[in-house]
Amino acid sequence: MMLRQRRTHPKVELHNHLTADFHASLAHDVREGMTAEQKRLPSKYFYDAHGSRLFDRICTLPEYYLTRTEMKILGDHAPAIMQSFARGDLVEMGSGSHKKICRLLKAANGTAGATLRYIPVDVSRDALLAASRELARLFPHLCIKGYVADFTAHLHLIPQGSKRLFVLFGSTIGNFPGPEAVRLLRNVRTIMAPDDRFLLGLDMAKPPHHLNAAYNDSQGVTSAFNKNILAVINRHLHADFDPAQFDHVAFYHEEKEQVEMHLRAREAMTVRIADIDLAIDLEEGETIHTEISRKFTPESARMMCAQAGLDISRWFSDPRRWFSLVELAPRRA
Ligand code: AVJ
Repeated sequence: MMLRQRRTHPKVELHNHLTADFHASLAHDVREGMTAEQKRLPSKYFYDAHGSRLFDRICTLPEYYLTRTEMKILGDHAPAIMQSFARGDLVEMGSGSHKKICRLLKAANGTAGATLRYIPVDVSRDALLAASRELARLFPHLCIKGYVADFTAHLHLIPQGSKRLFVLFGSTIGNFPGPEAVRLLRNVRTIMAPDDRFLLGLDMAKPPHHLNAAYNDSQGVTSAFNKNILAVINRHLHADFDPAQFDHVAFYHEEKEQVEMHLRAREAMTVRIADIDLAIDLEEGETIHTEISRKFTPESARMMCAQAGLDISRWFSDPRRWFSLVELAPRRA
């Protein structure tokens, strides 16, 4: 596999920095979450191969405006975003699909003498490899240096010395509670040179019926995505969750300005999780909290960034202002 990859794309290079033991972290997180007063599971475990495919389908749903809107903003503003980035490193955190970064690379390619290096950082080696291959095919002169790593912990490992544009698309930042989001942004801030920039995708607050529809699609894809986390735990920890015994619940909490996703037990049950020697009782109607997806206002966005030592240098949005791409610069000391 490595050999074939080298022959096909001499410019693709992968580094594996994922030392953390997946099984041990999952076991720890599931024990902690499932023994809490409000049971919960970390949303990062949605994304196994099947979960990633379901998420790709979510991105194409008529109700799920996020991806489409962000792509439109990129379509309209990529040249402006890339105007001062003809050369340097494009660092994408949580790369997933290659379609968004493609817009930026195309815009940069339009600039004479563009010499960019693409540095994707993602926990999924498969996703990273698939996206890198596709980009190497589309941009034969592009250098790609991928890092199989957790961008919340290993960002300091990526190369320094070139001007860098960090990107975090999709409103992924919204999955982190306030203090964690600020910590993540501050981590990026600490490794930024004064001329580096950070492009951050933010889903904006909007009338609740749009948000409720986006997370309760009529085809049930989001429900399948939500329930898939139980299959992930069954497989890795030898648990006996029956996904059919749970209902998908998602709603916008206006005061907290976040969508919450839960799995609600249809009836009382006992779930056994063999690998961590745990039996969990659930009451009828009890929920497992699986995700928050925070929605931002211009004020809350500015506040979050300011707390991380980042100033908003430019703001790109769609006409309805449903989604934002903010360009951040490290605050001058
Ligand atoms: C990939 C985290 C941005 O929060 O909207 C989609 C994940 N959850 N539908 C989001 C998700 C339910 C998505 N993010």
